[in-house]
Amino acid sequence: MHKKKDISVPISDRISQMPKSAIHEMTSLSKEVDDVAFLSWAKPTSDTPEYIKKAAIKAIEEGKTSGYSEPIGIYELREEIAKKLKKVNHIEASCDEIIVTVGAIEGLAAAIMAVIDPGDEVIIPVPGYSTHIRQVEIASGKPVCVPTIEKEGFCLDIEKIKDAITDKTKAILFSDPNNPTGSVYSKEELEAIAAISHKNNLIIITDEAYEYFTFDGYKHYSIASFPDMKERVISSFTFTKTYAMTGWRIGYVHSSKELIPQIKKAHIPLAICAPVVSQYAVLEAIKGSQECVNDFREHYKKARDLMCKRLDRLNHVFEYQKPKGSYLMFPKILLNEGKDSLAFAKRLLKEAHVSTTPGVAFGKESHLRMSFCVSEETINKAFDRMEDYF
Ligand SMILES: Cc1ncc(COP(=O)(O)O)c(C=O)c1O
Repeated sequence: MHKKKDISVPISDRISQMPKSAIHEMTSLSKEVDDVAFLSWAKPTSDTPEYIKKAAIKAIEEGKTSGYSEPIGIYELREEIAKKLKKVNHIEASCDEIIVTVGAIEGLAAAIMAVIDPGDEVIIPVPGYSTHIRQVEIASGKPVCVPTIEKEGFCLDIEKIKDAITDKTKAILFSDPNNPTGSVYSKEELEAIAAISHKNNLIIITDEAYEYFTFDGYKHYSIASFPDMKERVISSFTFTKTYAMTGWRIGYVHSSKELIPQIKKAHIPLAICAPVVSQYAVLEAIKGSQECVNDFREHYKKARDLMCKRLDRLNHVFEYQKPKGSYLMFPKILLNEGKDSLAFAKRLLKEAHVSTTPGVAFGKESHLRMSFCVSEETINKAFDRMEDYF
């Protein structure tokens, strides 16, 4: 339990007990330091491809964007998403099983609101994306964090997940590829999760934000495509990571015909609809050549390799699992002072001008999250400084 703050104005317990976002704390601290080598954000530094920006401008000029759309998103876009889900994710999707959302985040918030009653437990493998934990707390649910196996590349600990199930467990929620570890769950791991879900009547909520970014032949699987799973999975996806569009706030959820109308009930009071200009932009993104996505993947792979090479030279300070996907990694700090990861990250920022994110933000001390969705120049600058510093 987080310590309750002494606040005189009436704030809900849920919010007053919530810790500040370490990611945003590091960002604001970074602003106080000159010339920071910034590895704190899971935000691509590349610009949105031109053909997508042009589609948005065209939609604005044609007067299509000044009103709300249907709450679940414009029909043509949902049609294209259904095609993509079949082709890429092997999910037998139709237009009425999709809601276009304000990024993956709002889709996940609506999904969690639709499924979780106060006190319901949600199993979250950790290290995991802290926003998932906060979203469960906002819904008055109880996040149950289950450690993954670091030495095996932060793979799922299926036995520990089974042990964590109680009669209050309602769902299992995870990102795959994973933020912060870069792990990509294998078909076997996901089959085990599917079996657990069937046996215990659990909903699976997935965050597949980094679905396109896997390396070295590792494949991303969507658990909703597994036999008899469509009815019990809510899958969330995003355009923001795929096409370097984080500021456009646009993603989508897919689920069964039974669940989607319930998620829609939560989506409307959260958002009414996703930004209409962004809906027209991603309509073109999804229909157009996917070359930019391949280019991004190539870039992230090169950046990952460079970051691993530079970490190898600091093997007295860090030990790491090579990411199979995403554009994030989660090295372990070998030094004693790394046990307090927030203090360590702050010191690294102040004294070496390198901004990372403390592991504690993802449920694990003695680690730092480092993003490689940055230029090679930024990675080299950060590691030159760390080599001088340690
Ligand atoms: C795992 C994961 N899911 C979702 C998001 C945010 O996605 P969106 O911009 O689509 O809301 C992030 C951003 O860092 C993320 O790491």
